[in-house]
Formats: sequence, structure tokens, C-alpha cells
Amino acid sequence: MELPGGVLARAVVDPALAERLSAGPHVSRDAARHWPGYREGTRSVDGVIAQWIGTHNALNSYGDDHRQLRAPIAAALTRRRVEAMTPEIESIVQDVLDGLEGTGADQNVDLVQSYALHIPHEVITRLLGVPAEHLPAFSTAAAGLFDTSAGAEDMARSMGAVLALLDRLVDSARMHPWDNLIGDLVRAADASESPLSDTALRDQLMLIIIAGTETTVHAIGTLLVHLLSHRDQLALVTSGQAPMEDALMESLRLRPPVASVPLRFAVRQFQDSRSGEEFDEGEPILVHIAGANLDSERYEDPERFDVRRNGGARSLAFGYGPHVCPGAALATREIVIAVTRFLERHPDVRLARAPDLLEQTASFISNGYTSIAVELG
Ligand code: HEM
Repeated sequence: MELPGGVLARAVVDPALAERLSAGPHVSRDAARHWPGYREGTRSVDGVIAQWIGTHNALNSYGDDHRQLRAPIAAALTRRRVEAMTPEIESIVQDVLDGLEGTGADQNVDLVQSYALHIPHEVITRLLGVPAEHLPAFSTAAAGLFDTSAGAEDMARSMGAVLALLDRLVDSARMHPWDNLIGDLVRAADASESPLSDTALRDQLMLIIIAGTETTVHAIGTLLVHLLSHRDQLALVTSGQAPMEDALMESLRLRPPVASVPLRFAVRQFQDSRSGEEFDEGEPILVHIAGANLDSERYEDPERFDVRRNGGARSLAFGYGPHVCPGAALATREIVIAVTRFLERHPDVRLARAPDLLEQTASFISNGYTSIAVELG
């Protein structure tokens, strides 16, 4: 597959191979160590690929370095914190729903802008303690990082704006490490054998915020589109015959909010013994989650939305192996509450357009609808 900037990568769509590569020791996410040319500074990479591989954080690291960077994040995203956040998530969702009151029954509402977008942003803001006044600027800049059609200059501008805001957050967390996620991160990072610098902490925050917002916005929107365009499946969920969690897992399988995460590299020349596939040292690899989730050997009739499909939970939507998403429990809680409460408040809601006609992300990374017009009914 040719990626922006002329980068050639091996795209992997076989889910079993994708899992073996993601979990095994021969494949790394650390371009600075394992991508020849880039490592030596003789290969120039710009645009979206540069932004995704250019930061040193849990996502772009390998081995012990990864374990050290990931531990504080995992420590800050425990089930205990998700439980503690649940009443707050409920209250955020009710507030956003209240904001929609007064909309006429036949008036179109954009579910993304008026609903889905607000929930993860509010949750992350409260989780981190981001001052509300920084949020609009932050959101705009963060959205820019996902636009794979953006040029190198726009991308660099978005990145600069996000990093500047994060610097301020780290400064304030060092002074007041309160009981929020940044406080946990600072405490866990400082307690480790080699404490993280301010820049490293900032890069971790950047990762959490970017990874935790747009993904969840798309997951909420896509689940609602799937349910509203499959009334029989919606009935199974609203009647209690299928849990909303199962509908979410199936929606994430069929249309994962993260279609792929650039990039991985072969640490050395090796052969995958089961498939016989050979990889050269340093070869870029793109695990294509959206493709792997439609594998017809793993999923019967893979394009069908079926909330009673048990295999939905076994998809690659949250990744696999040591980098598997540490925010999955939080995301699941947010999305289930957001979609359940929306459907309770608006049982007669209808899509104003067929799903095929909805605007979609221009990205091979971020995967979702940018606008979903509905009539609340
Ligand atoms: C539906 C929502 C979400 C989806 C679909 C999603 C998906 C993913 C995927 C595919 C990866 C890469 C895994 C791999 O390479 O194997 C990942 C990593 C990550 N996600 Fe999520 N994510 C979501 C929500 C969140 C949330 C809410 C947070 C935090 C608040 C979060 C934080 C992270 C972090 C920090 C990583 C990097 C972990 C590492 O490399 O060790 N994600 N996520």
C-alpha cells in the first residue's frame, strides 16, 4: 500500500496474522529505532505519517521503553476510575440531551455536532482537569490532526497548537497534582525508576486526548447509524434481548473508528511460520483493522450488522497485543451510556438520509461519519 509521502507499507488484513504481528516481538512501533533511513535521518517523511510516528509516546515505542511509558497511562485508566466516572458521564450525557430539548420534531439535527462530539470531549476534560476555556481551541487543533487530506503545513500548525496547550496542562499538574488523570500520570511517572521529563509527559497526554476523543465520537455516531438503519437489531437491544455492549462491539467490528494506526516496522528479517509471509528488516507494516474485521473466515457474512454475533467482541477494533487500547473500558462505558440515553429520550428518532449518503472522514486512520442528520421525532 502506498501511504502519503510515498511510503510503501505492507497492509495486513488477515486478522490472525495481524494478531501475531501485533503481539509478537518481531514488530515494533518505534520508527526512531526500527525504521532504517528514518533512524539515520536520511529519509524525510512529512504530513500525516510524520505526525503519527514522530512523537515519542506509548503508541510509538517498543519493549521496555513501551512498558515504562504505558504503565502510568494504564494506572490512570483503571476500572476503578471508570466506575468513579460513571455518575459524571451520566450527568454529562443528560446535560447534552437537555441542550437538544426544544428542537422541533421535524427539524434536522446533526448527531455528530450536537451530540456525539460533546460527550468524549467533556469526559476527557473532566478526567484531565482541562480548563474549559482551552477546550474549543484544543478541539479544533486536535480534529486537524486526523485530517489525512491536510497538507504538511496545516498539520504542523495543528500539532503546534495542541502541544502548546498541553505544555500548560503539564506545568499546572506539576504544581497541583490533584486526583485526576494528569495527577495520576505525574505521580506514576515520577515514582518510576526513570521519571519522565515534561516533554515526555506532554506527549503521553497528547496521546490520551487524541486517542480518546475522535475515536469515541465516531463510535457513538456509527453505533447510532447502525441501529437506526437496522430496526430489527434496534428492537433486540431496546427490548433487552441483546445488551447494548454487544451492539457496540458489533458496530466497532463492522466499522471501527480507527481503521488503521500507522505504522509498525519489522525489527529484523523474519518469516511468519503459519502464513509463510516473509518480512524484511525495517519493512513498514500497516495493520488494517477495518479490513481484518471483515474477514470472511472469522466472521460469517461479515458485512451484516448482527448484534447477536458473539465474535464481534473478538475484533481488532481496540487493537491487540501490548499496545491494546488501555481506554477501552472507559470508551465502552461512555458510548453505551450515550447511545442508551439518547434512544430513551428520543425513541422516534430517524435518520434523515440513508447511511450511504452521509458524509464520512477523509482518512485511512480515523473512520466515521462527520455529520449525521436525524429528525428527533
Ligand atoms: C471507541 C473508542 C476507541 C477506540 C476504537 C480505540 C482504539 C485504539 C486502537 C486501535 C489502539 C491501537 C492498539 C494497537 O496498536 O494494538 C489504541 C491505543 C490507545 N488508546 Fe484507544 N481507542 C478508543 C478510546 C480510547 C480512550 C477513551 C482512551 C483514553 C482516554 C484511549 C487511549 C489509548 C492509548 C493511550 C493508546 C496507546 C496504547 C499503547 O500504545 O500502549 N483510547 N486505541
